[in-house]
Amino acid sequence: MTILTPTNNQAGLPDIGLLTRLASEFFATLPGGLPAPVNVLPGGTSFGPLAQGPQLPGTLAPGANVVPQTPQSAHALVASTPSLLPHSAAPNGLPDNAAIIPPAMDSRIGGQALGVPPAHTNDVPVTSAKPPAGAPAPASASPFYFLSETNGYPAKPTVFELPREDRVTAQSFGLPGADDLRALLSDNPRATKVQPETPAVAPGGVSPFYFVDTERSPHGYTGQAPNADAARHPPFDVNAIRRDFPILQERVNGKPLVWFDNAATTHKPQSVIDRIAYFYAHENSNIHRAAHELAARATDAYEGAREKVRNFLGASSVEEIIFVRGATEGINLVAKSWGAQHVGAGDEIIVSHLEHHANIVPWQQLALEKGAKLRVISVDDSGQVLLDEYKKLLNDRTKIVAVTQVSNALGTVVPVKEIVELAHRAGALALVDGAQSVSHMAVNVQEIGADFFVFSGHKVFGPTGIGVVYGKRALLDDMPPWQGGGNMIADVTFERTLFQPPPNKFEAGTGNIADAVGLGAAIDYVQRIGMENIARYEHDLLAYATYGLQPLPGVRLVGTARDKASVLSFVLQGYTTEEVGKELNREGIAVRSGHHCAQPILRRLGLEATVRPSLAFYNTCEEVDKLVAVVRRLSSARRL
Ligand code: ALA
Repeated sequence: MTILTPTNNQAGLPDIGLLTRLASEFFATLPGGLPAPVNVLPGGTSFGPLAQGPQLPGTLAPGANVVPQTPQSAHALVASTPSLLPHSAAPNGLPDNAAIIPPAMDSRIGGQALGVPPAHTNDVPVTSAKPPAGAPAPASASPFYFLSETNGYPAKPTVFELPREDRVTAQSFGLPGADDLRALLSDNPRATKVQPETPAVAPGGVSPFYFVDTERSPHGYTGQAPNADAARHPPFDVNAIRRDFPILQERVNGKPLVWFDNAATTHKPQSVIDRIAYFYAHENSNIHRAAHELAARATDAYEGAREKVRNFLGASSVEEIIFVRGATEGINLVAKSWGAQHVGAGDEIIVSHLEHHANIVPWQQLALEKGAKLRVISVDDSGQVLLDEYKKLLNDRTKIVAVTQVSNALGTVVPVKEIVELAHRAGALALVDGAQSVSHMAVNVQEIGADFFVFSGHKVFGPTGIGVVYGKRALLDDMPPWQGGGNMIADVTFERTLFQPPPNKFEAGTGNIADAVGLGAAIDYVQRIGMENIARYEHDLLAYATYGLQPLPGVRLVGTARDKASVLSFVLQGYTTEEVGKELNREGIAVRSGHHCAQPILRRLGLEATVRPSLAFYNTCEEVDKLVAVVRRLSSARRL
């Protein structure tokens, strides 16, 4: 993503014809839906008509012990005493020695929970939808038990409607506070800002104001058409989107909540809240077990969510999608299963200086356990990784490269495709941490080429406590389970255990079924809006916020890479980050201030903490204005 500059955004008038056509096409797609969830189960699961019995490896006689050759108990790894092992120094001068340091306490401020949001219109049925007597049978029946496709959560997604009355706001045209952006970029300060009027609605109930059109502008704007490259933006109605998120109606300290703590967690649309409630009201059961109706419903819902994740990540098979608690648990799974099997004394693991602690500590633990080395890709002062330095770190001892796709502390978008390709050329595998990327950009794991990819549901408008590991099927087949228990076995005797194939092999015990289903609903939601639309809108919003904050005296933006996504870390001279955070909180604005679980990168930039507003597609220019106003006030009253 390139930050907009006034120069490259004054490129002239948009092509109204093209814009009109694009907008029409966009609206035409809205009432449509996603295809109905596909009922899928990994091959080899031990139930249902598609079930295959467990296969013994060809070379083993029945009764042989097929516990993996290099079993690693997570407990044993965690309990191992850290010790400093001899390491050679990395050529880039960064510390090679793995060491365990107690996690620092991390100060946070943010919104406060203020009760239950008002009920929203809800199109989730309150009773299980059974076909009326005499109704024709569904065209194709579910392969699971006796469950028909008319059971369970309705396959048809909620119709995504853009209320017409909001199409006349600046945001209707795909611009985050278009008046502000226009005024800012044309050196025509806010004098031109005009409040939108009530729209005229054309006969037939269709607003005439779908498109950026100088002749019909409801704002009374008569100057040039928006110069922020509006032709590239399909209509994006942020006000309609905001109504999908009940928590955005909350007030904090008497002020409307402004949620700029999206890198920590995102809010949930009503459709996700409803989906989870529906699960508990109509489908709740354990999965993959008893042959009864609710078990079948729950299984269909859970495996349907796995298919949604597969589609979201562009993976080739649902067997490559493992549900875990979150990105942190996902990285731990890979380190403690694949890592324990493949990393040995003298081997090397590469991470970047940008990493979240979750993509450092599990590798450090593995390095300590095995006598391996942790190598660090250095970054430049803007916070972008140095590919030339990375190339120097790769060698035939490199086993795995683990990098984030977007830095949680700085917002840097890391060139993961190149990093993965270089790792592969060196004979190493690559893990990409997508915790901060999946909510901001379209991701395709096959295009990236990653061997493993992890993300957390709660960062992409889904529930907490659910996340995903994508792993290439051949790798997962070869990896030992990292936890043992029910659900992941094919057969158990006291002499030996046979495991299910992936993904079940890595999902011991009862998983977070309802929240996996909720994650599926979150994916439906963002896909209905479109990741490309989200990325474009957030790009402009980040540009707007950057231009607002950067010039304020005493403000230092931290993380100024050319490619950034939705994070605006800064420090303000004369104030601690905590003071700035508290002052923002007084105005209802939630940001994180602290080290963001990424101490190495902040220290690389000479800091222990920053104030970190982080944006999502439901934020607006007006909210950015509120943030900038508080920082401007503090800046003017600075203690120097
Ligand atoms: N990883 C989360 C953050 O960056 C918690 O705030």
